[in-house]
Amino acid sequence: MSVFLSTHPRTHSCGALRRDDAGKRVVLTGWVASYRDHGERIFIDLRDRDGVTQVVADRTRLANIHAIADTLRSEWCIGVVGEVRLRGEQLAKAEAGEERKLKTMTNVKIPTGEVEVWIDELEVFSKSDTPPFAIEDDVDTNESLRLKYRYLDLRRPKQQRFLIQRSKVTRTTRDYLSANGFLEIETPFMVKYTPGGARNFLVPSRLNPGSFYALAESPQIFKQLLMVGGYERYFQIVRCFRDEDLRLERQPEFTQIDIEMSFVDEKILQTMMEGLIAALWKDVLGHEVQLPLRRMTYAEAMDKYGVDKPDLRLDLVLCDVSAPSGRSGFKIFEGVVASGGIVKCLRVPGPAEKLSRSMLDGLSDFAKSFGVKGVAFARVQEGGAWQAPFAKSFSDAARDEVNRIAGAVPGDTLIFVAEKAKVANTCLGAIRLHIGDKLGLIRRGEWQFMWLTDPPLFEVDDATKEIAAAHHPFTSPRVEDEGLLDSEPEKVLARAYDLVLNGVEVGGGSIRIHRSDLQARLFKTLRISEEDQRAKFGFLLDAFKFGPPPHGGIAFGLDRLAMLITGAESLRDVIAFPKTQKGSDLMTECPTPVSKKQLDELFIQVRPDLPK
Ligand code: AMO
Repeated sequence: MSVFLSTHPRTHSCGALRRDDAGKRVVLTGWVASYRDHGERIFIDLRDRDGVTQVVADRTRLANIHAIADTLRSEWCIGVVGEVRLRGEQLAKAEAGEERKLKTMTNVKIPTGEVEVWIDELEVFSKSDTPPFAIEDDVDTNESLRLKYRYLDLRRPKQQRFLIQRSKVTRTTRDYLSANGFLEIETPFMVKYTPGGARNFLVPSRLNPGSFYALAESPQIFKQLLMVGGYERYFQIVRCFRDEDLRLERQPEFTQIDIEMSFVDEKILQTMMEGLIAALWKDVLGHEVQLPLRRMTYAEAMDKYGVDKPDLRLDLVLCDVSAPSGRSGFKIFEGVVASGGIVKCLRVPGPAEKLSRSMLDGLSDFAKSFGVKGVAFARVQEGGAWQAPFAKSFSDAARDEVNRIAGAVPGDTLIFVAEKAKVANTCLGAIRLHIGDKLGLIRRGEWQFMWLTDPPLFEVDDATKEIAAAHHPFTSPRVEDEGLLDSEPEKVLARAYDLVLNGVEVGGGSIRIHRSDLQARLFKTLRISEEDQRAKFGFLLDAFKFGPPPHGGIAFGLDRLAMLITGAESLRDVIAFPKTQKGSDLMTECPTPVSKKQLDELFIQVRPDLPK
């Protein structure tokens, strides 16, 4: 076995050496990132997670080292001992024009670019097969291949930066929360299945035939029980599991920074969390976040942006023009308003040519995916008149009022969607982002944080009128809305909040119910029978009989925070071993079928004949 590491412990990382280190004898370890054979000399870029250093094997100096260097190939893992020299020093000594030569030899693209290490000893730790793709940034290798060889993909400097920054996020989180009196406490992953919320992954219990654990979708109930247990301030950087349909910003197992605090209201909790956000942006990016963060009610967000997570890097806003549209003479709009729908308008500032006819026509197809039949457009002319197919059907008075509400001036384009409120908002909100992106109006590089406050406590199904908790059934209603619980539950707003960053929900939480009388009223509104309450949440209700403190909490999506802070394009980039959209791990090839024997042990029969 090689004694290299015992006799030559590493002295520097491959990103550490600078001009001032010239003359030092150093030991570096890493991977051969590139290799250039210049006859007498072989130049190797040696890479580790910290950077790249050029190392040189010179035949005239040490022929045996040069001979070993000659055998090296990409991604071999090696160690070198050598002397740090200024680049080109050797050449410069031999030739005239020293200064010029020294300058031209410097590689300004890398921090170690002024120096190189002349190898005296070289150890090959291990050889490498030719990698299936080049280990460098901006490769266009398809993602499936990269995920299959994830360990090689993880060697890419960009990928390493993502995970190094993610590690800073978790470190700063622990430092900040610990300094503020939070205790890090673990809660179970294998938990009791409770219906509602996200779909759970199930784990069969061998010892209890036919019974299953659920993998926790979040530690919600346990963190509340920790408050009952008197721990006051809890946090956990915790894996959560949800068997959801996966989109770009979702993973089946993801990580939360999960937090709960006793004896707080929204203001105290949010201020503490703003401190965490400021610490993260300062430590990871050196950026000062201006506090306090902006707050916006759910009602304002839906009205102006059509979504509960507005991207405020884009100034375009929606407005409600239902009132003038309802008496405009234009039958389609009047019909929608008469049947309880709304007409929303998005003003896109001129000149009109920016928004081409084909781009506008494309919006109708875009809108169809939201279940919207059509999108109407009007170009605003001098004097406020509209150029639009329906302009003649629209009364002048109604048109002037729409112009006034939208703040329209000549040259602007107005885009309308007339539908049921939810659909109109969602669709026009998406059109706002789509157009903002196409016209380059989203200010990239800005950090637009906001708290979304006062969302509805319940969701009411349009068709069945069935009522469900929008968040979870332990979220407090606003004190001033408690009286509406029985009469007009759809109007009750929640003491809940989301933290939104650049149009992404990065966290969400609420002040919880801790009074059993209020909890009972809420269950009644939700039409959860006493029997059901006991079956689902009996242990929590029991716990709340023993002096629960007022409490509230929040959970941040760590992967989403890391994705935004690092500028990564997808959640997968900030997760070392992520799953694909179909929930598979391409490297270990999971999930897999298991043997009949294993299934028998669990009393499970697989039924591929059942419809999917
Ligand atoms: P919620 O369900 O809103 O709240 O989740 C909190 C945050 O977790 C992130 N998140 C996800 N990230 C990646 N992939 C997913 N599949 C995924 N699902 C959610 C989001 C979200 O804002 N127990 C409550 C919190 C509380 O009330 O304290 C909860 O889990 O960034």
